[in-house]
Amino acid sequence: AAPSAQDPWRPAVHLTAERNWINDPNGLVYENGTYHAFYQHNPHGNFWGNMSWGHSTSTDLIHWTQQPVAMEASEAEEIFSGAIVLDKENASGLGTAGNPPMVALYTSAYGKGGARPAGVQAQSLAYSLDHGKTWQKYKGNPVLDLAPSNNNFRDPKVTWYEPGGYWVMTTVVADAQVVKLFKSTDLLHWDHLSDFSGVGAQGGLWEVPELLQMDVAGGNGLKKWVMLLSINPGGIAGGSGMQYFVGDFDGRTFTAENAAKPGAPLTDSQWLDYGADYYAANSISGAPGGKPVLLGWMGNWDYAQDVPTTPWRGAMAVPRELELLRDGGRYALRSGIAAAASGALGEAAGGEVRRRNLTVDGGAEPLGGDFTARSQLLDVELEPGEAAETGLVLRSSADGSSGLRVSYERATGTLKVDRSRAGTGNFSRLFSPYHQAKVPLRDGKLRLRILLDSSSVEVFTPDSTVAITDTFFPAWDDTETLAFSRGGAAEVRVSSAAP
Ligand code: FRU
Repeated sequence: AAPSAQDPWRPAVHLTAERNWINDPNGLVYENGTYHAFYQHNPHGNFWGNMSWGHSTSTDLIHWTQQPVAMEASEAEEIFSGAIVLDKENASGLGTAGNPPMVALYTSAYGKGGARPAGVQAQSLAYSLDHGKTWQKYKGNPVLDLAPSNNNFRDPKVTWYEPGGYWVMTTVVADAQVVKLFKSTDLLHWDHLSDFSGVGAQGGLWEVPELLQMDVAGGNGLKKWVMLLSINPGGIAGGSGMQYFVGDFDGRTFTAENAAKPGAPLTDSQWLDYGADYYAANSISGAPGGKPVLLGWMGNWDYAQDVPTTPWRGAMAVPRELELLRDGGRYALRSGIAAAASGALGEAAGGEVRRRNLTVDGGAEPLGGDFTARSQLLDVELEPGEAAETGLVLRSSADGSSGLRVSYERATGTLKVDRSRAGTGNFSRLFSPYHQAKVPLRDGKLRLRILLDSSSVEVFTPDSTVAITDTFFPAWDDTETLAFSRGGAAEVRVSSAAP
């Protein structure tokens, strides 16, 4: 479906379900030119429940085709988050050499009549012999259980560990703030390797962990290991957020460098995103291109169940690729729109680029008709000069009184997103108004890459490691883009691709 006055917040270039609730992306895998996104989905309602794996496919990471529900909840078992890998060598024996299986590891959240007492969570396996269309549950499920059994043991993500010749699975005991690592050579039998805990934000549940090996940009082949971790609540913008740790993995233990101590200010930790709506992101197994490509959920448990969209609720963020940089004495991740997806966003724009350079001196100025699409990819250069603050108002009313503000405040060196006057926000008192992060200027300028859609904004900094993802619910008629400054003149240069 496309955005319309009846469904004004339906994203144009982000993954949603036609109908009903979605949260975490699951089982992200690339095979033969097709990207598969499975996800937490309620096939029967527009709220969290009946957790099943929905399924959509894409060849360009932007245009998605919804497929039948892949694994459906029963009274005995809900299908929580997990991962898919291609078992190319048929190590599991669940396929054949000529038709090796896709293998999913997922969390069984047991109910009445399940393989374990109601409330218990354990890791189970399912496999597909038809490229992800249909799934069979393994007879020996669950394949991994804690003793004694545990009600918060979940979110398996699986990576191939080349030096050891085995798979490594990360999971969490969410309410104990522990990541547990396991290994396997056949995906069926899992042995405990080590635990990772005692660092970083401890505010709430630890969820959806992932261990990734990455090249250090400009590091002459140097590689490091990165642990991605979702935290709820206790995120940098309030509620759900994503932290990461950079360090080393010796095949058994992950050791983080520069990890903030528990109880340290949240700003001491490293955050993948400083907005309120980026959670449970994990990488697409086997994605081409050499950099990890992540899909994340644009939601926050603080208010996701209250957002005013219907007949759908929940969307995925734009696929992003990660680079590992050496930044100010420590390693840091830079996020950008995945190269494969940028291609499709350019196509959606018909290849046409519109430009506007202007000087704003206290006040706001409309960029005009070329910048009124509900969905736009904007490349922005702000040169604050003497201005105290400068930026854009997106999905603005003509007079600028309502709209979403993306701006730079010079005195504090902060990039800010302000959604406090950007349409409907009164559905939850936890729908936080402002999000921000420190970003240095370069030669007095700040470059931004902004992806605007019907109910979201994603702000990337091509020269820095800050990203801000926020949902917002603008008035249908507010479609202007304004440039503004406060306390002095600023240069604002914008180019856009718009459908
Ligand atoms: C994260 C999460 C996971 C869990 C899933 C349930 O958002 O809570 O830990 O597997 O969602 O839908």
